[in-house]
Amino acid sequence: MFENLAPAKPDLILSIMQQFREDRRANKIDLSVGVYKNAAGGTPIIKAVRDAEARLYESQETKTYLGTTGDAGFNAALTGLVFGADADRSRLSAAQAPGGSGALRMIADLIRAARPEATIHVPDPTWANHIPLLSSAGLTLKSYAYFDAATGAVRFDAMMRDLGAARRGDVILLHGCCHNPTGADLDAAQWKSVGTLLLDRGLLPLVDLAYMGLGVGLEEDAFGVRHLATIAPEMAVAVSCSKNFAVYRDRVGAAIILSATPAQAEIVTGKLGAIARSLWSMPPDHAAAAVRIVLEDNGLRASWKAELDSMRERIQTLRADLALALNRQSNSQAFDFIVKQAGMFSRLPLTEGQAQRLKDQHAVYIVPDGRINVAGLNAENTEVFARAYAQTR
Ligand SMILES: Cc1ncc(COP(=O)(O)O)c(C=O)c1O
Repeated sequence: MFENLAPAKPDLILSIMQQFREDRRANKIDLSVGVYKNAAGGTPIIKAVRDAEARLYESQETKTYLGTTGDAGFNAALTGLVFGADADRSRLSAAQAPGGSGALRMIADLIRAARPEATIHVPDPTWANHIPLLSSAGLTLKSYAYFDAATGAVRFDAMMRDLGAARRGDVILLHGCCHNPTGADLDAAQWKSVGTLLLDRGLLPLVDLAYMGLGVGLEEDAFGVRHLATIAPEMAVAVSCSKNFAVYRDRVGAAIILSATPAQAEIVTGKLGAIARSLWSMPPDHAAAAVRIVLEDNGLRASWKAELDSMRERIQTLRADLALALNRQSNSQAFDFIVKQAGMFSRLPLTEGQAQRLKDQHAVYIVPDGRINVAGLNAENTEVFARAYAQTR
């Protein structure tokens, strides 16, 4: 049987990570992998999460099954975090999932069950894994104009034109904040215009919220989701806790669905449970329990928020330093866009073969499409990277 299988295409970023690990050069710089890094290049466990894990260790008396939609306390706490503490929950359904990826896959299955003919429109470019996650549920995907490489900003007019041409009943994937791979986000006025267009054209917003708190601020990064929730009859949100709680490998996130009526929300909740049953039966518990403990405890929540704030501020400082260094190297203001963008990622213009030259000549690892993880920089290597980038143009 298995002799019929063609080898899977290796994952680009995972293979860059592997090459980086094997590189013996002392001055190597990794800007490829999409995890937050501190000044020492590490991705530490957030203190509040560690404290919550200690409490869990002391207090947990059983590891028996929780159910297909996971920990109800976690679902409630995360819904409050994303939609706001005062949000009306009567039309909201939430299901814990293994990471934002699991949430995206559940939502794709839900859409497929509700409207198999729906096309999901994704930004050009988008996170590479959106394509297999959403299309493996059997849905058709199509790109809409999003990023302008010349300005480093959103091609908003072209985006609105493309969205306006989508068929009624189609789904529009939007990155809630910190667009991956470009760092170019919608501003508040643009979110409002997109919201009005989706409403007028009968399109379902699907917001991927994987970096809440790492862009402009915890509340600010939820603006898009919260605005759409006030005007849209229905929407879907895939939340990841991987980055903002730094629980990557423990796998936690949630699919949160807004339905037109409370009665429909009840049906959606049941359907999410059935989908989970068919995919992984029940989501892993550990990180969800830790995140719940953090969010439910005022002290831990404040400590988590302060650490998240400092992570975000570090990224913002690195963005400013990088823009300055690249502007200096190019004797221009061409890299000002890096400061206007948000989150860990930016996409730099690369000449043909430049990613390879950066690796071969300077031990700098970046994704060949020009995406860099700004958090991979620090006070020592920002200037080094800017010089290497200029020299390999
Ligand atoms: C845009 C985007 N969405 C979703 C995810 C899902 O993350 P995870 O499944 O690790 O929670 C990621 C992770 O890199 C991402 O960049």
